[in-house]
Amino acid sequence: MRTVLSTLFLTLVIAGAAVLYLWSRPDPAVDAALNEALTEKLRIRGYTGLIEESLEERLGRAVDLRLADVGRFLFFDPVLSLAGDNSCSGCHGPNVSFNDSRPISIGVGNNGVVGPGRRGPHNQRRAPSLINAAFYPRLMWDSRFTSTSFDPFNNALGFLFPEPEGSSLSYMNHLLGAQAFTPVVNRVEMAGFQFAGDNDAMRDEIVQRVNAIAEYRRLFGEVFADIRGGVPLRYEHIALALAEFQFTLIRADAPIDRFARGDNDAMTADQKRGAIIFFTPDVRPPSCGECHKVDAYANEMFSDFEPHVLAVPQVLPAFRNMRFDGPGEDEDYGLEQQTGNEADRYKFRTSPLRNLAFQPAFMHNGAYVCLEDAVRHHLEVYDLARSYELDKLDPDLRASVGPVEPMLESVQTLIDASRPLPDEEFDQVLDFVLNALTDPGAHPDSLRALVPASLPSGLPLHHFEWGIQSPKGC
Ligand code: HEC
Ligand code: HEC
Repeated sequence: MRTVLSTLFLTLVIAGAAVLYLWSRPDPAVDAALNEALTEKLRIRGYTGLIEESLEERLGRAVDLRLADVGRFLFFDPVLSLAGDNSCSGCHGPNVSFNDSRPISIGVGNNGVVGPGRRGPHNQRRAPSLINAAFYPRLMWDSRFTSTSFDPFNNALGFLFPEPEGSSLSYMNHLLGAQAFTPVVNRVEMAGFQFAGDNDAMRDEIVQRVNAIAEYRRLFGEVFADIRGGVPLRYEHIALALAEFQFTLIRADAPIDRFARGDNDAMTADQKRGAIIFFTPDVRPPSCGECHKVDAYANEMFSDFEPHVLAVPQVLPAFRNMRFDGPGEDEDYGLEQQTGNEADRYKFRTSPLRNLAFQPAFMHNGAYVCLEDAVRHHLEVYDLARSYELDKLDPDLRASVGPVEPMLESVQTLIDASRPLPDEEFDQVLDFVLNALTDPGAHPDSLRALVPASLPSGLPLHHFEWGIQSPKGC
């Protein structure tokens, strides 16, 4: 009897498994339809999946690895900080894929740590990742550094910066080279409050300090014959080196790129479904791809590089060294800070969306530490903005939340029209954004080797905290 029963049981189990298998087996017809639909979405946008390979063609030359290496040392070296305690790597840490390790930057006056343990007075916004920034036609959260041709590799129409730089940096041949003139003169980021003098005087001082270090002169001399011949460094050399280092930080070979190049297995069926929702403007409100653009000047970076009002909750750090906007000094007016135009209040640039799996916080002020919340914010803006609580942030960022209603009054039309997605579709969009746009080469472990063993200045490197878990869903 027992054997009969167990045989029956076994038969049932096997039959059950067979049914389950048939049920869940990929259906070739469904697969083919998904592949075709996504391929068409990408085709009409001119998406190639080859953006990474296009770098040197766009530059019109090979990346100069010797110059990039000088740039790498400078990037990590507090010698560029007149306050002496920060470097580019303090806010764009290799251990967080060249993102900010905190939701809002901490610049001068920091404790030397890069990671969750970084402490000191906060600035106003989060530092975006520098990975792939070489392809951005406009830089910063308010797009205030712009290549007028909308091509960062082309200075023919000039590079436009706010005053005092204006268009004076247009002779640099890439937008990143022009950008590299600015962090070092920013008092809250790197320069500090002690040194008296304007931006040019600050850069002159930095150049003198670098020029006095024999090892830097030797390294620059390997690239520039005139420096080898004894001519003193100029700030241009430093800026060129920093830009060249950033040209080595392209990590844009993600599953979607492999799919676009013809590898149908590079993405899962759910990621493909998520991608189709992402790129479909009319079916329902999310319309992600309308702002997170890939075509033309967007260089397959998932941004239109235009500022929009998303009404992201305004986070006010307890300890800060910048004056915030508004009557309560608890707001960030975004683009209005540059234009003085009230119509630009609360506008921030559409975030490029690559490599988010390694990003510790989202939005211009890191208001969301979970990617899921950042995506949900777009779909349920009124609910999320009004019910926002600071409890997911670290205690030093929980001072208070700025006004919400004035932001909601001017929220972007597409966002205003958005509605929640059914759970299954929401998960597919999330899966697409998180996994199909992430290049494994942007993982901190792959970037660790970029940290120099020591610096030409002899100054100590920051203390990078490794092994930080990026919160994917919460
Ligand atoms: C105190 C922190 C801090 C330091 C130090 C710092 N940055 Fe940044 N960086 C930021 C923040 C914050 C932003 C965005 C600011 C904004 O939009 O208003 C930014 C933006 C950028 C961008 C534009 C990225 C994009 O997506 O548009 C580049 C490029 C950049 N930084 C390069 C550098 C370089 C090179 C250095 C060193 C010379 C440096 N940064 C030093 C905080 C920092
Ligand atoms: C109206 C234009 C617009 C639409 C439509 C839009 N976004 Fe955004 N998105 C933005 C802007 C602007 C930001 C940055 C806002 C800020 O920081 O204040 C952003 C930020 C994000 C971020 C955070 C990235 C980061 O680095 O912090 C994610 C993720 C994101 N969007 C995904 C999506 C998805 C998924 C959809 C579709 C459901 C979507 N977006 C639709 C404009 C848009």
